[in-house]
Amino acid sequence: MDLFEYQARDLFESHRIPVLAGAVATNPEEAELIAAKIGGKVVVKAQVKIGGRGKAGGVKLAENASDAKEKAKAILGMDIKGHIVKKVMIAQAAPIDSEYYLAILLDRANRNFLVMASVAGGMEIEEVAHKTPEKLARVGIDPNTGIDKSQAIEIIKAGQFPTDVVDQVAEVLIKLWEAFIKEDATLMEINPLVKSLDGKIIALDGKVTLDDNSSFRHPDHESLIDHGSTNPLEALAKEKDLNYVKLDGQVGIIGNGAGLVMSTLDVVAYAGEKYGVKPANFLDIGGGASAEVMADGLSIILRDEDVRSVFVNVFGGITSCDAVANGIVQALKILGNQATKPIVVRLDGNNVDLGRKILNEANHPLIEQLDTMDGAAAKAAQLAAK
Ligand SMILES: Nc1ncnc2c1ncn2[C@@H]1O[C@H](COP(=O)(O)OP(=O)(O)OP(=O)(O)O)[C@@H](O)[C@H]1O
Ligand SMILES: [Mg+2]
Repeated sequence: MDLFEYQARDLFESHRIPVLAGAVATNPEEAELIAAKIGGKVVVKAQVKIGGRGKAGGVKLAENASDAKEKAKAILGMDIKGHIVKKVMIAQAAPIDSEYYLAILLDRANRNFLVMASVAGGMEIEEVAHKTPEKLARVGIDPNTGIDKSQAIEIIKAGQFPTDVVDQVAEVLIKLWEAFIKEDATLMEINPLVKSLDGKIIALDGKVTLDDNSSFRHPDHESLIDHGSTNPLEALAKEKDLNYVKLDGQVGIIGNGAGLVMSTLDVVAYAGEKYGVKPANFLDIGGGASAEVMADGLSIILRDEDVRSVFVNVFGGITSCDAVANGIVQALKILGNQATKPIVVRLDGNNVDLGRKILNEANHPLIEQLDTMDGAAAKAAQLAAK
């Protein structure tokens, strides 16, 4: 889960990383109130989960509270690379001397964590990495040992920070590391980390990605979820404990086991090339596919307006094909006239003969059975093309 900047700010604050006063507003009046409370100059910042807000006009300096109201009015509703601004953060304005870059991220390829630090932070960091890579220190961190003070200092020096801030920035890096580990993050980035005119080091902008796999040990992260922007079908699937991912094609997919579903996506994508159709989703109903789970899965897929046909691909293992077939028949009974799209079923594996017999005898007008995965994929693609 990616956080909004204001959520990252609050998280940093709770881990004693130096930040400025700031709060989030959803309308200009609220922005004015917050600005008045902070006092003096403030910065009004678009809250969208995409980079490059400053360059798009989503970060504006305001002289006072009433100016903050005007700036908020201008920024709210703005479209930044397809993201509509629904909230702004009002932050105290910092008198900036220098802008630095500091980040910790999960480095999947090297199976450890990576710290990146650079004296040349701010809005051009991508260019720095590209044109003057020597100004960007990249240091791998062993997750078992973490970062101690002397290593932190070494990293900051390698990032070419001036001597007078090395100690303070190293301190921030250690706190950022503690926050990163405690919160189970996969990314924590501060850009810019600034030195103010009076020599203080402050995090002015934060990007945080939390690892959803760890949500079971972070009940407090639940409140950070942005319900307004989750796909409604994905939200419904989550409620039903289904592993569902919405994709942008037309063939609905249901399978048992993530591996089988992944291969099903491949064969459908291949078969669909001819007709210009693609898989509409990933849905793994898991091992014990009961009628209810099948009904939940089918109902979610049939509710997807993009779906024109459904491919149910099940390999009977612990759950035998007859149980799955009964599940499909019962699911269609539960769904009644909610079920309107053709469903191609391919059963194989444990007790396949009985499974196919059950479906044949049910003789449902929407169901068509095929013996092979390729054949069924071709059929489902063809039906979706109509
Ligand atoms: N509180 C603040 N006080 C003074 N200047 C600020 C403040 N916040 C941001 N700025 C200035 O605005 C610039 C852009 O801000 P910020 O880094 O938050 O947005 P961005 O980098 O454009 O967004 P993103 O990180 O999403 O790409 C900063 O580099 C800094 O110069
Ligand atoms: Mg930034």
